[in-house]
Amino acid sequence: MTPTGRAAWEQAYARAEAAITDAGVPKTADLVKLDEVRVRLSGRNGELTALLKALKDLSIEDKRELGPKGQALKESFEAAIAARKAELEDAGDAAALEKDAIDLTLPGLRAPRGRLHPLTTTLHEIARIFQLMGYSWAEGPFVEDERHNFSALNIPADHPARDSQDTFYLKDLPLLLRTHTSTVQIRAMESQRPPLRVACPGRVFRHEQIDATHSAVFHQVEGLVIDENIGLADLKGHLQTFLQKLLGASTKTRFRPSYFPFTEPSTEVDVKCFFCPGSGCPACKHTGWIEILGAGVVNPAVLTGVGYDAGKWSGFAFGIGVERVAMLLHGVRDLRDFYTNDLRFLNQFDEDLV
Ligand code: PHE
Repeated sequence: MTPTGRAAWEQAYARAEAAITDAGVPKTADLVKLDEVRVRLSGRNGELTALLKALKDLSIEDKRELGPKGQALKESFEAAIAARKAELEDAGDAAALEKDAIDLTLPGLRAPRGRLHPLTTTLHEIARIFQLMGYSWAEGPFVEDERHNFSALNIPADHPARDSQDTFYLKDLPLLLRTHTSTVQIRAMESQRPPLRVACPGRVFRHEQIDATHSAVFHQVEGLVIDENIGLADLKGHLQTFLQKLLGASTKTRFRPSYFPFTEPSTEVDVKCFFCPGSGCPACKHTGWIEILGAGVVNPAVLTGVGYDAGKWSGFAFGIGVERVAMLLHGVRDLRDFYTNDLRFLNQFDEDLV
């Protein structure tokens, strides 16, 4: 005899409970299977749904007693489903994160990096030393007039330096490309009252035959010091200090008498050759010395020309070749290497990046 009423419902309850245990919700492998279990038990045709529907055939008293029991079974099943669902979703997120994780031990991508040209770093080094020695920094134009490049510097009209062999003149204009940075001496004195102490870096232009030590475009740094009672001893002291800071404390210098119209007396300064230490080689033209700058005590005619009182003020000036310094500092034997910009040459100067 098939049970009816309360007994039948309690048997159905026991089956539903067993089915829930069998379904093994806490161990369900994935979200798809979990949803199948949910539909199978509490979907429209599920055992739990049928169990709750069957309550309607019970007496009022049984309904009151068993109704909450059936409801509780359904709710605990649904809670188990929800808990497992959350667990599987978290695990899925973690797996996705794991899959997309960044490997911090991989080496980074190297972006190609520019570097400063050896002439620029040499100029920076020269500037740094002059700054330490109390010089200010001033620049002037590449295109100049004849007065700043020549006549204010006491270079008379018939001087060979004015020869068109040496100077680039602008077509149809009374202008030229400056042949030295001494132009900036004049500009500094015209715009400032003495005393002054100034260094002027810049590019200069000469109609030269190009070879290992000559270029039509090169760089100089001009220095000018004007004060009371300044003479040749001050000039020697400044330049010796400067060259030793630039090239090393053991640098040997040699002051040779020379001639420039804008200085009197004039000198050219050599440093002991770095390539052969003194025994003679092509770099020093077999003399053991390399010329690095021209200098002298400012000619009173130049001071008077810019309106300074030459009875009260005196000074010295010098002009350094930047390429020559860079060649000495880096052991470069051919000046043209600085301009051809072959990367195999330039890449050697990485450590100089400042
Ligand atoms: N202007 C000179 C040159 O270019 C160098 C120099 C500068 C000499 C200042 C004396 C004083 O050769």
